[in-house]
Amino acid sequence: MQKNLKINGERLWQSLMAMAEIGKTPKGGVCRLALTELDREARDLFVRWCEAAGCSVTVDAVGSIFARRAGSDDSLPPVMTGSHLDTQPTGGKYDGAYGVMAGLEVIRTLNDLGIKTKAPIEAVVWTNEEGSRFAPAMTASGVFAGKFTLEQALAIKDADGVSMGAALEAIGYKGKAPAGGRAVGAFFEAHIEQGPILEAEAKTIGVVTGAQGQRWYDAVVTGQDSHAGTTPMPRRRDAMAGAARMIACLEKIAQAHAPHAVATVGMLRVHPNSRNVVPGRVAFSIDMRHPEEKALLAIDAEMQRRFAAIASEQRLELGLERIANTEVVNFNPECVGAVRNAAERLGYKHRDIVSGAGHDACYLSRVAPTGMIFVPCEGGLSHNEIENATAGDLAAGCEVLLHAMLERAGIEA
Ligand code: GLV
Ligand code: MN
Ligand code: MN
Repeated sequence: MQKNLKINGERLWQSLMAMAEIGKTPKGGVCRLALTELDREARDLFVRWCEAAGCSVTVDAVGSIFARRAGSDDSLPPVMTGSHLDTQPTGGKYDGAYGVMAGLEVIRTLNDLGIKTKAPIEAVVWTNEEGSRFAPAMTASGVFAGKFTLEQALAIKDADGVSMGAALEAIGYKGKAPAGGRAVGAFFEAHIEQGPILEAEAKTIGVVTGAQGQRWYDAVVTGQDSHAGTTPMPRRRDAMAGAARMIACLEKIAQAHAPHAVATVGMLRVHPNSRNVVPGRVAFSIDMRHPEEKALLAIDAEMQRRFAAIASEQRLELGLERIANTEVVNFNPECVGAVRNAAERLGYKHRDIVSGAGHDACYLSRVAPTGMIFVPCEGGLSHNEIENATAGDLAAGCEVLLHAMLERAGIEA
């Protein structure tokens, strides 16, 4: 592979900035929840750009968009890349959008250089990666890879009771192509690290070897609504007091499994949510992660045991529904190698790294040889409006992506 194959870093940056206009927030971030009108706008822009780059575009039954650049042997399985265009409510400009724009930039670069690949190249937008509006996360890549059925995905409801199926119809992205069930030659995803390691070690490229496992739960603690002024403390069945003890306990469990365990309660719903009513019901979310399956199992079991004890001590009922279980992922050694080789060949400082975040690549790795490329982000901050990355690092990651994809797709002589 020639060392001098370069992408256009300025064009990549401009595309990212244009995409970040859709749903931009006053603090410089992006709020573009899955399958909203803003998501539709972002998708439309991506489709326009891909068609202008000569790609044929298809949309599958769960709304994922595939922009295809033909190969010289179009019967070969495509070498794919991509990520997501949905964001967190207080999201940044780079989480997801970078991987999508990097895919488009690879295609534009191949056009500029007149390179014909043997296998086709596809740039993909996966629907609902974040899991913020519709849980669980990484839904469409999960359907593509057989983790969820199409019916399960379309039936997921948001907090207002709108199903993913209805939301897809509403924005015109309920496509006709079957979701999954076709061969993929390789999948690569470029992403900001979303953590502090690369920046701290002054490395430009993270060669991602895998991702940690995750469990998501919906917890519901039920007691009894009663008067805040007249119900003596011993007679209360205070769901909030119970939930508070559980949340504090979960944090201790994660700390006891330092340094790798993380646990988060990011959503809380209090019923009836009135200042002078002892809350009769509290619902909260749980996100726990660890790079080793065995440790994750132990944390999970300990949480269940301790929560049950707290509920019983406080005369509360506890419902714990597991809504997501993402196994520890090890990426394909050859794809990891292709990323490492590319970083080496291009002269970028790199290190191997395990992803703390979930990514569409995690599910793709069930059905295709898969690898990921990380670039640093400022202060390791992500899922935050001030998420930031440099144009130089983003371009470097995209260049590594181009080289890794070409290694797998082959170039027509
Ligand atoms: C995806 O954004 C995650 O929660 O890891
Ligand atoms: Mn992401
Ligand atoms: Mn994210």
